[in-house]
Amino acid sequence: MTGKRHVITLIPGDGIGPEVVGATVRVVEALGLDIVWEEVEAGGDVAVKYGSPVPEHVFASVRKNGVALKGPITTPVGAGFPSANVTIRKKLGLYANVRPARSLPAIKTRFEGVDLVVVRENTEDLYSGLEHIVVPGVVESLKIITEEASLRVGRFAFDYARRNGRKLVTAVHKANIMKLSDGLFLECTRRASKEYPEIEYREIIVDNLCMQLVTNPCQFDVLLLENLYGDIISDLCAGLVGGLGVVPAANIGPDLAVFEAVHGSAPDIAGRGIANPTAVMFSAVMMLRYLGETDAAARMEAAIIGVLDEGKTVTRDLGGTASTKEYADAVIARLKDSPGCH
Ligand code: NAI
Repeated sequence: MTGKRHVITLIPGDGIGPEVVGATVRVVEALGLDIVWEEVEAGGDVAVKYGSPVPEHVFASVRKNGVALKGPITTPVGAGFPSANVTIRKKLGLYANVRPARSLPAIKTRFEGVDLVVVRENTEDLYSGLEHIVVPGVVESLKIITEEASLRVGRFAFDYARRNGRKLVTAVHKANIMKLSDGLFLECTRRASKEYPEIEYREIIVDNLCMQLVTNPCQFDVLLLENLYGDIISDLCAGLVGGLGVVPAANIGPDLAVFEAVHGSAPDIAGRGIANPTAVMFSAVMMLRYLGETDAAARMEAAIIGVLDEGKTVTRDLGGTASTKEYADAVIARLKDSPGCH
């Protein structure tokens, strides 16, 4: 433990957010670190009160603290306010979305030994929110790809590979069709690759990637994608390793980071106390590493994996019957048995 005090912005979100974030906070607190949570609300209810799903004080809190743990936030389909999640990423300049998908021995899936990291550009592409009606019956959505953002996320992916002992970065594209936009993205990822000669660089067309991932996922290491492809492919990768309940994510900017699960607010199971909090718990592990609390991160990760390995107290999505709370209790009980716990 570093002994440092960490003030962390906490955004519980909506749907299953408060349940899985609440469970995660209990586990983090059991580590005995000096953490102060600064809780702020974002989402639909907040939009009614403040006129925006992400009020200014939420951004101010993350900017001040430099780090946040966030639950999922529901986005209305086809109408209503813009995605609070996308707004947070864009406005805070969280340009890289890192989503590791790793097989866990306890979770039996079609494949073993999957160990992928999706690095997704997080600020532009079709998520620029620029849509308009040209004439009734014809709409246009603008796909924005810039040299600056593509180079920045490209360098991030290679730097991540270098720092984490990864050997291969594969850039994903559809530049055979979108010759200009995906063409520019590729031009930038190629330039970034030249700065990291020890890391192997490959390219793959996104439709082929989908087929390759569901037949032989172990051939990939770091996947580098634009925003939309990254969003879709990371859910696919989650499916390879046990589902959305287990895959964490980090949104990284120059001096700020927001940690959240890959999954959304899961309205189909919200409020029933059955959601799997593992994804948010692993996101908190990533957050603790980002904060330099590597020992605490390792202990928390080991406790989660221990409970999964034991298999007695797992949630329904993983074939068990445990509630969110029972699962968190089991992780906390393991932490209490591990050395260094307070
Ligand atoms: P979703 O990820 O919420 O759920 C997809 C499926 O996975 C559902 O069957 C759900 O029950 C299951 N699932 C997800 N997380 C789970 C967990 N922790 N434990 C057990 N099962 C879990 O995706 P969906 O339904 O497409 O989106 C719901 C809402 O969430 C939408 O409004 C969407 O815009 C929003 N969303 C928000 C995200 C964020 O806050 N970063 C990310 C993705 C979606």
